[in-house]
Amino acid sequence: MTKKPEPGGIQIMKKTTRINDFDSEAEYYDLFENKNQPLFDLINNFLKKLFLKNKIKTVLDVTCGTGAQAIPLSKKGFHVLGSDIGKSLLKIAAAKSKNLPNIKFVHGDARRSKHGKFDAVISILNSLGYLTKNDFKKALANINHNLSDNGLLIFDNTNRSCLDCGNFITDKIIDTAGERANIKFIRFSKSKYSKKTGIILTRWETLIQCGHRKPMKNGGLWKRQTYSLNDLKNIFNETGFKLENIYDRSLADFDEKRSFSYMVVARKTEHCKTSQ
Ligand SMILES: C[S@@+](CC[C@H](N)C(=O)[O-])C[C@H]1O[C@@H](n2cnc3c(N)ncnc32)[C@H](O)[C@@H]1O
Repeated sequence: MTKKPEPGGIQIMKKTTRINDFDSEAEYYDLFENKNQPLFDLINNFLKKLFLKNKIKTVLDVTCGTGAQAIPLSKKGFHVLGSDIGKSLLKIAAAKSKNLPNIKFVHGDARRSKHGKFDAVISILNSLGYLTKNDFKKALANINHNLSDNGLLIFDNTNRSCLDCGNFITDKIIDTAGERANIKFIRFSKSKYSKKTGIILTRWETLIQCGHRKPMKNGGLWKRQTYSLNDLKNIFNETGFKLENIYDRSLADFDEKRSFSYMVVARKTEHCKTSQ
């Protein structure tokens, strides 16, 4: 049921059961998710430097979306395979990189797809956080399988220790808004955090308006699992990795209590026994 308009004139969307569904929003994905170009440039430059230092030549992006990391990395000269569970997202990524020589996109599931052996595997924008803890472990075991000996895994996620200290906003917020060409868009979200499970549940709703036409409304849920540094170390132990470095997601020094999210660099140290 659609509720009465809230102050500010926006109608709350019907309750929806769509959880962590990026693919059915593929058409608007870049509009909403890939707007923070300075952060993306920072991350892609960090990856480039790290890869050059470690003599990385081949990179597998297991949650590539529309190619926000995969495409810039291929332009920097790395051989990149982008894989994602979302077929519509992959179509957009392929169209954006049509004439680039060093890149391919294939459909795959980070928890089970075997793509070969790569020098590095990446998963950026909290992507592995959308998996349950059990699936996260499956994904790490499978990533281990897709890595060459001593290969690197780089991913980011939300820091459970920071949330446990009470650093969490539960008000309804405007999490994204903007205007591009003839389109105006706004997304509201409201989140809950469970200290017991480390899960963030976010209900989001968007309005997208072309010119002065009636706005399109949409909504869904994100369910994200967060991990503390200690949780990560234990899971790495189980899945054949060793933590090499951890940064604040803005790539400044990591502060266990204050960094809201982190960027992790882990190294494959042994073959994971649980990887099928
Ligand atoms: C927040 S988006 C990030 C995408 C991209 N890295 C970026 O920065 O724009 C999360 C991505 O993870 C993908 N994803 C979720 N579960 C997956 C799975 N099991 N295997 C592969 N991709 C998955 C989604 O389809 C989505 O593209």
